[in-house]
Amino acid sequence: MSGDNLRSREHEVRDDDGPVIEIEPESNGEEAESPLEEETSPEYSSISESDDEDSTSISTRSFQKDTIEDVFENGRRYCNETYFMPNDEAEQTRLNIAHQIYLIVLDGELTRVPIPRGRTRVLDIGTGPGDWAVEMGERYPDAEIVATDISVFDIGPNSLGLPNVSFQLDDAEAEWTYHEPFDLIHLRSLSGAFRDWGSVYRQAFHHLRPGGYIEVIDADTAADVINFPNIQNSYFSILVAAMQSAAEETGFPRNQGHLRPALLTSVGFTAVNSTDITIPVGVWPDDPRQKTLGKMALISILEGLESWSLRQLTDTGNWTAEEVRALCDKVKGELVKATGMTARVRILTGRRPYAHDFRRGRSDDEMLEEVLARLQLRESKRDES
Ligand SMILES: C[S@@+](CC[C@H](N)C(=O)[O-])C[C@H]1O[C@@H](n2cnc3c(N)ncnc32)[C@H](O)[C@@H]1O
Repeated sequence: MSGDNLRSREHEVRDDDGPVIEIEPESNGEEAESPLEEETSPEYSSISESDDEDSTSISTRSFQKDTIEDVFENGRRYCNETYFMPNDEAEQTRLNIAHQIYLIVLDGELTRVPIPRGRTRVLDIGTGPGDWAVEMGERYPDAEIVATDISVFDIGPNSLGLPNVSFQLDDAEAEWTYHEPFDLIHLRSLSGAFRDWGSVYRQAFHHLRPGGYIEVIDADTAADVINFPNIQNSYFSILVAAMQSAAEETGFPRNQGHLRPALLTSVGFTAVNSTDITIPVGVWPDDPRQKTLGKMALISILEGLESWSLRQLTDTGNWTAEEVRALCDKVKGELVKATGMTARVRILTGRRPYAHDFRRGRSDDEMLEEVLARLQLRESKRDES
């Protein structure tokens, strides 16, 4: 596959002003945010100051290795008893490679959304070793990058000491308590990290400035993103099915559910844009750039097999570590031989609207109805108190 081919295989779906409209029909039934609250972000004025060193957040702590108790299991290191991926050196190296792959996929860019000039605030949720956050800090020296995770990696990039990048321990499923809104909230490779993505998106919406963007990027092998000839009769498909059902059991889904444009629109995001990019996996492409990308993707997947499955499958009680490793070995043998293997990366972006976006799109009657409903609600609340 050549570089041009790669681009031509991108498939864009937009839900507002893009060329192709494709909103998936399913919705989680959540109501969109009220448009009239847009430009005020009341949650910031109601948060009281804390004695936390970093005034950015009151719920977070700076990264310190000794505040974390790692869990060792079957020869791998994990940050807690719950999250399925390890945080040891092998995993850190794999994430470093994955970061380079994403850079190639995005043509050297770190994001697909526009970054405003000046004192832009960026939040990187589940930053891992922090490659993305650090590079954002380097490329945008005037921006303030807040990188959060529930885990601390060994050779933390915080040692680079960039003045505009701060690392904090924070669980994104807990209540977010940042003092100031962000211009971009970035979530990459977090499939399986959250029970309820809708709730994470709702918090992201509230912590973005009007006009600010959310960007979600994922390509979880457990989410049917890999394809190769005869995949149906492969050890790989056995592993994927086992990971999917184990993930379902734990309540932390590993599928494409969080990458549905409808999930972002249901919490109030507009300009929702979903782009699928198919990349080669393996050394089969003729084009040198694609071959390099394919090699890196293959290494990352071979290295990832155990990380993605070991804890998840052994936790079910149906698999021993030896059985999981034996299956991973069989899958590895299969993948190195597969010709024409590809992986699909999805990039989902959405914008928190300005109030005038809504005004433009609504009739005067609808606006009046909305205002009257809000007044009635306020009056009934006043009567109750
Ligand atoms: C596969 S890594 C991806 C790291 C990074 N985003 C990247 O692209 O290189 C997933 C990261 O999410 C973090 N994570 C998992 N659950 C989380 C949560 N509830 N809140 C914040 N981070 C979480 C993990 O500790 C891990 O570092």
